[in-house]
Amino acid sequence: MSDFVRIVEVAPRDGLQNEARQVATVDKIALVDRLSATGLRSIEATAFVSPKWVPQMADAAEVMAGIIRRPGVAYPVLVPNLQGYERARAAGAEEVAVFTAASEAFNRKNINASIDESIERFVPVLERARADGVRVRGYVSTVLGCPYQGQVPLADVVRVARRLYELGCYEISLGDTIGVGTPRKAREMLLAVAAAVPMPALAVHFHDTWGQALANVAACIEAGVRVADAAVAGTGGCPYARGASGNLATEDLVYMLHGMGLATGVDLEALAGTGRWLAALLGRPTGSKVGRALARA
Ligand code: HMG
Ligand code: MG
Repeated sequence: MSDFVRIVEVAPRDGLQNEARQVATVDKIALVDRLSATGLRSIEATAFVSPKWVPQMADAAEVMAGIIRRPGVAYPVLVPNLQGYERARAAGAEEVAVFTAASEAFNRKNINASIDESIERFVPVLERARADGVRVRGYVSTVLGCPYQGQVPLADVVRVARRLYELGCYEISLGDTIGVGTPRKAREMLLAVAAAVPMPALAVHFHDTWGQALANVAACIEAGVRVADAAVAGTGGCPYARGASGNLATEDLVYMLHGMGLATGVDLEALAGTGRWLAALLGRPTGSKVGRALARA
């Protein structure tokens, strides 16, 4: 099994999308550029979603126009439909991410569509992306619980993940949107999906609402996954998942993975510096324990 873990940094998108105060476009650009200087290879830069639904992401095109595209770094962007795909392409995006959930109730609130309707919207996106040579990542949200329907059957997670993979997503990110999962459940969920979608095409995406994110990633790494999403300074939360607090902090993830003897290619000191910078910008303490420990050291 590979000893390299690819981290998908999602702070510029998942980290910022729920911020009540509008973050300046120049600061979003600076965030992406600082992150790409730390050795991260995949940085979700923004979202081409409806600005009426998520005003914080209204400047997606300006962000894409302003960032430095470092060779070897992918800058995926979230798109909910063909309109978002077209905006993303016009802004020069070379990788996109589509998103749906394993829970009907959550999808309705988040993207105003049922699971099947949302997947129907992705069909033309994936067709166009294939023709354009654009890579598409797929997210499945609420894999370990839903803020509206509570329990989410494993069979639903597997069905949605398999469908996105069959449609042509190169990687499926399994999201514990409200951070309720615990390690054994996380591992069981991952292994159930891995019976339908090859493990190298899977990623895990944990929010830390209940303090379980790092333990959940550790369990999933031991079960074989080699891609994990995280957000510097533990920023984040979905506007349509009430109470969903930050993503797993990238600093904490990198520290743990290096401690497990796994490589990430990320410079932890530089990353922690970016986390401190971002926390100061947002006017609150960092959500990363490692970030705090390094600041004291
Ligand atoms: P709708 O209102 O049902 O869509 O929204 P519509 O097709 O009826 O369009 C309504 C208006 O939006 C129209 O404008 C469209 O042109 C416009 P109007 O005619 O009223 O002026 N519109 C758009 N504008 C810009 N870009 C677009 C776009 N699409 C339509 N792409 C829609 C449906 C999906 C668009 C909306 O619900 C939406 O944008 N939702 C995004 C929600 C979101 O971003 N949620 C957070 C990300 S998901 C997440 O955080 C979870 C994740 O992190 C994993 C995890 O943690 O589990 C990924
Ligand atoms: Mg998320």
